[in-house]
Amino acid sequence: MTRLLIRDAAQIVAPSGAGAPLRGRALRKVTVIENGYVLCGGGTIEAVGRMAELGPLDGEIEELDGRGLCVLPGLVDCHTHPAWGGDRVGEFSLRAGGASYEELHAAGGGILSTVRATRALGSEGLRERVEQHAGWMLRHGTTTWEGKSGYGLDRDIELASLRAVAEAGGRPTWLGAHAVPPEFETADLYLDYALAEVLPEAARVAEAADAFLERGAFDEGQARRYLEACRRAGLALRLHGDQFTESGAIPLAIELEARSVDHLEATGADGTAALAASDVVGVLLPASALFLDRPMPPARALVDAGAAIALATDFNPGSAFTTSLPLVCSLACTQLHLAPEEALAAVTTNAAHVLGCAHDRGRIANGFRADLTLLDAPDWRYLAYQLAGDIVAGVVRAGEVAYRR
Ligand code: NIG
Ligand code: FE
Repeated sequence: MTRLLIRDAAQIVAPSGAGAPLRGRALRKVTVIENGYVLCGGGTIEAVGRMAELGPLDGEIEELDGRGLCVLPGLVDCHTHPAWGGDRVGEFSLRAGGASYEELHAAGGGILSTVRATRALGSEGLRERVEQHAGWMLRHGTTTWEGKSGYGLDRDIELASLRAVAEAGGRPTWLGAHAVPPEFETADLYLDYALAEVLPEAARVAEAADAFLERGAFDEGQARRYLEACRRAGLALRLHGDQFTESGAIPLAIELEARSVDHLEATGADGTAALAASDVVGVLLPASALFLDRPMPPARALVDAGAAIALATDFNPGSAFTTSLPLVCSLACTQLHLAPEEALAAVTTNAAHVLGCAHDRGRIANGFRADLTLLDAPDWRYLAYQLAGDIVAGVVRAGEVAYRR
């Protein structure tokens, strides 16, 4: 077995400690090894330390020159919508001219226009698109990602979406309650169908279920019904909530012991306090708030109150057309007023916790999966400092070089 040695790296950096999720002061603690190495074997990390401590190595070794590079844990994108056809560039132009996202949605555009294009694409086309989107994520340093369905909203295309995500190496989430498709008159009739006809098979492919709880989408009772049925089928729970209005998402996520509640642009003081006192992670999506010109989520207040937070792209064609977690980290520091250390924890350890894999992802430690993101930078904080730059020099996934710029 050939092992991989990354040597002479300018810095090797990861959140300190062992537990997850990180909150409060622990979110700011990172371990920085200057002039270091990481040794990977059999897909996992065998050793990490300073070059000065590296002894002689036996066996076959592939060496990767880390001079001028910073090594981070592979980035984890815990919220993406990669399974779609068409695009929303026409809608983007309309929004640039002043149309609002919610108005376009109410007029049958928005999510429903992507549903039409995704159905037209079919399973094979969908597989190719998800594969393409997974490649974009990799080139931005993402080694672990969640991918939601939600643009099929019928049995075949929802299941094809989940399978395409799994085949492209993602972790599938069934977003069956994303919008009400046009062939159903009411949300309740659509949920009757989705829970009877799609859930049994979706539960075999997906790891989690998600619902869009918002005016114009699903209300609290409908989201509860959907999520409770998904939980009985063995799925972990996520929730899109407080994007435009506070409609009960945080109390519901806490009551149902969801892994996360995501968006939170409209969250006020009570929601912040409730989330901080719970085990539910608040997933913040500043690229989506930016893209829709919405208020940013109250990240600083959440962290200061003790909430566990993660950051993600929300990659999708309508509200966040980006796969870049480095860009999200820049927004976290400039718009959400988080420290680079907090942003790092939020796209590594805490994001891995949301996906149920923090035991072996999101840190650089012996026995963890050898997922590493190499930055072309003299200081790891360039992750956030360099705005939308070409900063990812390479990616190691399960001990193999998966991307070199
Ligand atoms: O997370 N808010 C709901 N769903 C997606 C957007 C979907 C779309 O616009 O196509 C989101 O922002
Ligand atoms: Fe989303």
